[in-house]
Formats: sequence, structure tokens, C-alpha cells
Amino acid sequence: MARKVSKRKRPSRDDFLFKERFKLESEVFDRSTLLTLSKLIGKGIFSTLDNPISTGKEANVFRASVESGGFLAVKIYKLETTRFMRRKEYLEGDQRFGKFRRTEREFVTAFAQKEYKNLQICEKVGVHAPRPLLQEKNVLVMEFLGEGGIPYTPLNELGPESVSQLEGILMDLRKLYKAGLVHADVSEYNVLVGRKPFLIDFGQGVLLSHPHSGDYLERDVGNIVKYFSKHGFGMDLGVALRYVKGEGKLPGKAGKKKAEEGKKKKE
Ligand SMILES: Nc1ncnc2c1ncn2[C@@H]1O[C@H](COP(=O)(O)OP(=O)(O)OP(=O)(O)O)[C@@H](O)[C@H]1O
Ligand SMILES: [Mg+2]
Repeated sequence: MARKVSKRKRPSRDDFLFKERFKLESEVFDRSTLLTLSKLIGKGIFSTLDNPISTGKEANVFRASVESGGFLAVKIYKLETTRFMRRKEYLEGDQRFGKFRRTEREFVTAFAQKEYKNLQICEKVGVHAPRPLLQEKNVLVMEFLGEGGIPYTPLNELGPESVSQLEGILMDLRKLYKAGLVHADVSEYNVLVGRKPFLIDFGQGVLLSHPHSGDYLERDVGNIVKYFSKHGFGMDLGVALRYVKGEGKLPGKAGKKKAEEGKKKKE
């Protein structure tokens, strides 16, 4: 007589369909994330998840295809990581997220929500960043930044030819500051360069009322200034900071000339 398999141990039809649909092994996504993705597909937000663009320690980013054509970027914050706990300070000092959270899952979701809200602010004030579409639990769906299905190149991969992007980046940091937000994770890895530089990865972004917003701003601007000085264009941190805070101007044409000279020297 055939042994009975307990109903609970049998894979559910839903599980089976998810795996078929994504053509992925079950280890890639946990069940909760699969449910969220399936819900989004059911709503017609996108039709397939394509290849991963990036697999990181805290999040994976996928390109997704939309039925009517075009692409979206889907950032999936990892639920199983404990790394977000280390970033507690970015939530606790931010009055939008001050509420006490007990579980890691709540923490992860809060970061996805924070990134979504910050991207909404960017859209409102015209900072170049991906337009946010929606956030559902640990999944954030946003505009795909790229051309012909290929994501734009991160600033760090551009080297000396990236020098012309400095002004654009500082201008956006200034707009962001004026809107009351500090990115708090700006580096050459979190800028994608298309027709303009685009800031990405806004999960850490805090309001100016955060007790450490000044330090984060200085670190952000410092990272950018350091990166460009490595590539032949030195700018004084104080000058850059004052500009971002709306308290001063950037060096004009002289600065640009210096940048071009630096670029030529490297060639
Ligand atoms: N909207 C987007 N369009 C196209 N590519 C994107 C988009 N958002 C992110 N990416 C790509 O995914 C990479 C990682 O994104 P992001 O910086 O937001 O994640 P992360 O939090 O740094 O992940 P981790 O730190 O765990 O690596 C980026 O460097 C970029 O190549
Ligand atoms: Mg990043």
C-alpha cells in the first residue's frame, strides 16, 4: 500500500507555480518574497523578473520586463540578513521611522519603505534618481535607469572621464538638502551615469532633523570630493559643503578648466 504523504509536507500548488513562473530554485527567494513578487505580477506591475543586475549583501536588484514594453528595476531587500540591525541609527533618528521595531523583518521592510519615501522626495524636487513606482514589504519597484535594457554605468567605473559629472552631483545634493534630506550613503558606487548623474540607493537617507544629519552630509560630500580629486579634479571640501548647503557658489569656469587639464594629463 502506498504511504500517505501528509498534506502539510506536500508542496502547495502555489509554490509549484511560483517556481515554474520564475524558473528559479526555491533558495533564491524566501516564501514571503515569492508571495510579494507573485502579487505584483498578478497586478500587472511587471510580467517577468529578468537577470539580476546586482547581488549584494543587503539587497538584490533585478531588471523586470513590463508587458507593454520597457523595463523596471526591482530591488529586493534580503529578509534573512542581520546586517540591517547595524544600520539602526538611520531609522531611529528619523522622525518618520522612530517607532520601535522588534523583528528583523520589520527592520528590513522599514528600509525599503524609507528608500521609497526618499525617492518620492527626489521626484518631487527634481533630483535625478529612479522614479519610485511602489513598495510592498521588502520589495521596491522603480524606474529602470539604463538604455536598451543595459543599466547605466556606476561612477566608479568611469575614471577620469567622470570628472564632468561633479557639478551635476553637487547640484542634486544641494536640491536634496533644500528639500530637507541627506542621502547618507553617497559614494562613487551609488551614482549611475547616463545623460546626467543619477543618485541611487536611498535606504539610509535621513531628514535634516536627524541628530547626525550634519555628519552624514559631510561624509557624503567628502566621499565625492575625494573620488574626484583622485581623478585629477581637486575641490575644497568646505567650498563643496557650503555650496550643497546653499551658502556659497562653486568655482566657475576656472574649476572646469582645471578639470579638463587634469583629464588631459591622465590621457
Ligand atoms: N533603478 C535602477 N536602474 C538600474 N540599475 C539599478 C537601479 N538601482 C540599482 N541598480 C543597480 O543595482 C546596483 C545595486 O543597487 P543599490 O546600490 O541600490 O543596492 P545596494 O543597497 O548597494 O545593495 P548592496 O549594498 O547589498 O550591494 C547598482 O550599483 C546598480 O548597478
Ligand atoms: Mg549601493
